[in-house]
Amino acid sequence: MDEFVLRMEHIGKTFPGTKALDDVSIELRRGEVLALVGENGAGKSTLMNVLGGTESPDNGRIFIDGAEMGSYGTTGARDAGIGFVHQELSSCLHMTVAENIFMGRLHLYKTALGFTDYARINGEAKEYLTMFSSKVRPVQKMRELKIADQQVVEIIKSISINCKILIFDEPTSSLTEKEVEYLFDIINRLKSQDIGIIYISHRMEEVFRLSDRIAVLRDGKLVETLKTSGTDANGVVSRMVGRSISEFYPPKSRAFGPDILEVEGLSSRNLFQNVSFKLKKGEILGFSGLVGAGRTEVASGLCGLLEADRRSIKLNGRRIVIRNYSDAIKQGIVYLTEDRKALGLFLKLQVKKNITSTNLKGVTNGFFISNEAEIRTAAEYAEKLNIKLSTVEQKVDSLSGGNQQKIMVAKWLYTAPKIFILDEPTRGIDVGAKSEIHNMLRELCDAGTGIIIISSELTEIVGMCDRVIVMCENRVMGEVTGGDIAEETIMKLATAV
Ligand SMILES: Nc1ncnc2c1ncn2[C@@H]1O[C@H](COP(=O)(O)OP(=O)(O)OP(=O)(O)O)[C@@H](O)[C@H]1O
Ligand SMILES: [Mg+2]
Repeated sequence: MDEFVLRMEHIGKTFPGTKALDDVSIELRRGEVLALVGENGAGKSTLMNVLGGTESPDNGRIFIDGAEMGSYGTTGARDAGIGFVHQELSSCLHMTVAENIFMGRLHLYKTALGFTDYARINGEAKEYLTMFSSKVRPVQKMRELKIADQQVVEIIKSISINCKILIFDEPTSSLTEKEVEYLFDIINRLKSQDIGIIYISHRMEEVFRLSDRIAVLRDGKLVETLKTSGTDANGVVSRMVGRSISEFYPPKSRAFGPDILEVEGLSSRNLFQNVSFKLKKGEILGFSGLVGAGRTEVASGLCGLLEADRRSIKLNGRRIVIRNYSDAIKQGIVYLTEDRKALGLFLKLQVKKNITSTNLKGVTNGFFISNEAEIRTAAEYAEKLNIKLSTVEQKVDSLSGGNQQKIMVAKWLYTAPKIFILDEPTRGIDVGAKSEIHNMLRELCDAGTGIIIISSELTEIVGMCDRVIVMCENRVMGEVTGGDIAEETIMKLATAV
């Protein structure tokens, strides 16, 4: 038998305008975790889409257990034992949890009369969910679930096909710490069952905790495959970007101006009560807490995306009325959502349309939208944020995940907001681009924009914020400022129920 459960040899893939993969070869042993790392747009997801049968390669060969695979699609991949937890959640939102888990296999679960045997699929789904300590019920519709719960369902779906190879494309970006630990337990269990695992992540900490080897991609080429025990984060990052990167955060504010935003008694029926806070000029305010603590709800309530009592909101000392989100935007309060797929981007539209959609006045001459102005504006932001694309006339869904995230940031920046609320702004963004975004936020703040950051990444909160409000179970647990802002202090508040 082949020593490797998987060999991918000399894989090449070109999209119009981009060579996404150039002669890439990787191999995977049974019971091994191979981490796949690289900057946004390096080709990680494309390589895995080729393996998972959603993209066909232009050249190269794939061997599973030593046997060469002909050309195949997603069904072929599943039959060959390849499971895939995708970067962008791909569930059918109108179907139930159990239906999603057993999707594509529902015909195997029939009653004697030929109907789908719901009792059985719900029962089996329940067992998996219990295994994950999940409170989700098999009969719930996917659309009712939070992103984190949808993610768990996707993981279960892959595990339930009895795969030989399991691919995780940034699985932890929307999981709570507890869920991450649970996932790691599961991965270790799968490892001991001789399943080969490919794990894509931008978080070095996870890569080093989990992997046996690390394959580094840069610009579609394999730079090197390293033994994890023989290298460190610096070694990996410098190979990823071809230079070394400082992980420093920009210096914090020393002087604050007057209050630019004053929120008092913000409440939303059964979601949260009586949340009050102020934001000063020159200050970055953080909302911390575990995933699900209610931070997104408070931000949505403030911006009119959620029904809430907004009677007392002042912007630059003046009371403002926000009936809905477009009122908020008119006032200069914008919200960068954590859910870019459902709420944030028009995936089927061009990059230039996405970036300029929020401020059409900026690209209109007379009555008409000027194509030239659209292109110029979009290109300017693509350069500023280092967005990897071949042309601004590309559709957004042809960009890599991290680059889509940057388009969202660009789109709201273009409105020149007074208050910019960012929910998980650097999720899925590589280390280099992350510090670019951080520097930019600090510059905006210094120039007078009020910045509020919601983040589950404690290092980001601690590194960026001048003041932090900590939430737990829809309540504000406390506030930390200045020198008191430390991971430990925040964690204590975030977990004190
Ligand atoms: N359908 C497509 N059409 C055109 N270009 C594409 C398409 N899919 C991917 N690309 C391009 O191929 C390159 C590699 O993208 P890929 O999604 O593999 O990157 P990635 O390493 O997964 O990045 P990230 O960390 O941001 O998820 C990018 O430049 C991307 O824009
Ligand atoms: Mg990707």
